[in-house]
Amino acid sequence: MSIAIAIDGPAGAGKSTIAKAAAKHLGFIYVDTGAMYRAIGLYTLRAGVDPQDTDAVVALLKDVDVTLARDEKKNQLVILNGEDVSGLIRTEQVSMAASRTSAIPEVREYLLSLQRDMAKEYDVIMDGRDIGTVVLPDAKVKIFLTASAEIRARRRYDELIEKGQSVVYEDVLADVIERDNNDMNRPIAPLRPAEDSILVDTSELNLQESIDLLIKTIEENSK
Ligand code: DC
Repeated sequence: MSIAIAIDGPAGAGKSTIAKAAAKHLGFIYVDTGAMYRAIGLYTLRAGVDPQDTDAVVALLKDVDVTLARDEKKNQLVILNGEDVSGLIRTEQVSMAASRTSAIPEVREYLLSLQRDMAKEYDVIMDGRDIGTVVLPDAKVKIFLTASAEIRARRRYDELIEKGQSVVYEDVLADVIERDNNDMNRPIAPLRPAEDSILVDTSELNLQESIDLLIKTIEENSK
């Protein structure tokens, strides 16, 4: 039987970078479920539909096909109706659209079976908001990976500046807080630690220390 590790936590805690590195070290397939929600957010924006207009978003779903693929380095690619959108989904505008559309039950249901199928087939480290609570409640190890909002905003700000985007720290912090609020307060699959999850706080850790702590936590708890 395949082994699943669930990693949940708020936006910008470094989850994807840290979980990806841990997956590589441990020989697991890394699944970034946020990227799937982002693909739907992107589709909504391209269609000129308001991500908060539930009926309009639900009506779009029948035309959406989201799949995951791997490049030659085994990195995850997100394919939206046959197009590789892995780079295009990493903007603040798509982040916000994804946060809105992910609150719609039909959107979550649409992605749920895809996510569970991946865990059935492979040993996965799956990263998201509701993996330990909803998607894989029987995961072998559940981790809630977090850091303070200010630290997360600072990391995201540095990342965006490095990519050449012109942003203001206060705006990034406001976005982080707004997204936390959206993700934690939605009625369906809100972001919260599973009861049997282990808290990993990276506020005081650098990237390598965070990766090492995550690997150690998974190893110690998957025996
Ligand atoms: O992890 P991320 O920032 O790429 O996720 C984008 C959005 O998708 C985020 O606002 C919350 C949502 N999301 C979700 O609701 N459930 C998941 N399992 C993963 C992401």
